[in-house]
Amino acid sequence: MKLYALVTQFFAGNPTKNLKWKRQPRRKSCSNQFWFVLFFSVVMFFLLLCFNHLFFEKTKGFVYFPGKPAGSATYFPGKLRNNSKDSCLGRYIYVHDLPKRFNEDVIKYCQLITRPGDRYSVCKSLENSGLGPRIKGFDGSDSWKNSWFSTNQFMLEVIFRNRMQKYECLTDDFTIASAIFVLYYAGLDLRRHLWGFNTSMRDSPGVDLIAWLASKPEWKRNLGKEHFLISGRIARDFGRKSNQKSDWGSNFRVLPESENITMLTIESGSSENDIAVPYPTYFHPSNDFQVHQWQEFIRKQNRPYLFSFAGARRSKQKGSI
Ligand SMILES: *[C@@H]1O[C@H](CO)[C@@H](O)[C@H](O)[C@H]1NC(C)=O
Ligand SMILES: *[C@@H]1O[C@H](CO)[C@@H](O)[C@H](O)[C@H]1NC(C)=O
Ligand SMILES: *[C@@H]1O[C@H](CO)[C@@H](O)[C@H](O)[C@H]1NC(C)=O
Repeated sequence: MKLYALVTQFFAGNPTKNLKWKRQPRRKSCSNQFWFVLFFSVVMFFLLLCFNHLFFEKTKGFVYFPGKPAGSATYFPGKLRNNSKDSCLGRYIYVHDLPKRFNEDVIKYCQLITRPGDRYSVCKSLENSGLGPRIKGFDGSDSWKNSWFSTNQFMLEVIFRNRMQKYECLTDDFTIASAIFVLYYAGLDLRRHLWGFNTSMRDSPGVDLIAWLASKPEWKRNLGKEHFLISGRIARDFGRKSNQKSDWGSNFRVLPESENITMLTIESGSSENDIAVPYPTYFHPSNDFQVHQWQEFIRKQNRPYLFSFAGARRSKQKGSI
């Protein structure tokens, strides 16, 4: 069952599984459109249903995501393995080695991203691999009590990047990859210039990124079709159509080349290639047991109030969720 394997191996929240941060060896395979579509369906499915299972990271701070890990040129243990048993076939992901200005530098100057109304500075929200400061003070010793974090709602890009680092089917050969990850902190980058800056300040990182991508062989092979990125901000923030300073956001998703890039975002827009995924919550359990423990705890509480939630699509934006 390849589908099952894909779900469990890419997203199972198993903190003890020590997946080394290294690329898989080169393998011969056809790039397969079906597996590409399937991959995104599964990403969607899993993110929607059990995002909280994603992972649990004990280390403080974030781990860097270098394009080429040390020693990758010489270390190919896979050559010793039997190719016909390649469990990564159809699941390889290639990560673009982007210039640091698109990712590391953005969070390095985290104080520039912080807004006056933020509960914590963005620098603090980056702790625990983007989960934020741990919430302490629960009574009792149940292990789920260590799984609550004060998570900034816009931190999905950092959380996802750290999850991707542990993905076991990374490859340094884009020709066998079913998907190409663009490690651009789109939302965090934009947040620095959303208020009070002219449109060129808001647009230039996106324009710069597209120019960089479009010059690469990875892009030229299929006009960007396998590329995907994740945005911790809503798609509308990247959909400015006019050049009026008073209009909201950047024009990143309006750029023609953006059309073929898939964007996972906390609220999709009109692009066919937007895929809506949930906002990060405060609860980041590391295994099923903690989820069950939490459910048990809630069931036993005295719950005298009813409440409901009403949501709606944005009326003027067809296709938004
Ligand atoms: C690889 O494994 C397959 C069975 O899974 C076997 O038929 C084949 O002979 C093996 N090849 C090598 C080179 O070991
Ligand atoms: C936009 O603002 C930046 C500084 O904030 C400035 O350097 C640049 O010239 C401005 N661009 C335009 C087109 O007004
Ligand atoms: C997107 O991909 C399609 C092919 O599927 C191609 O016709 C189109 O030109 C691409 N768009 C851009 C902007 O490259």
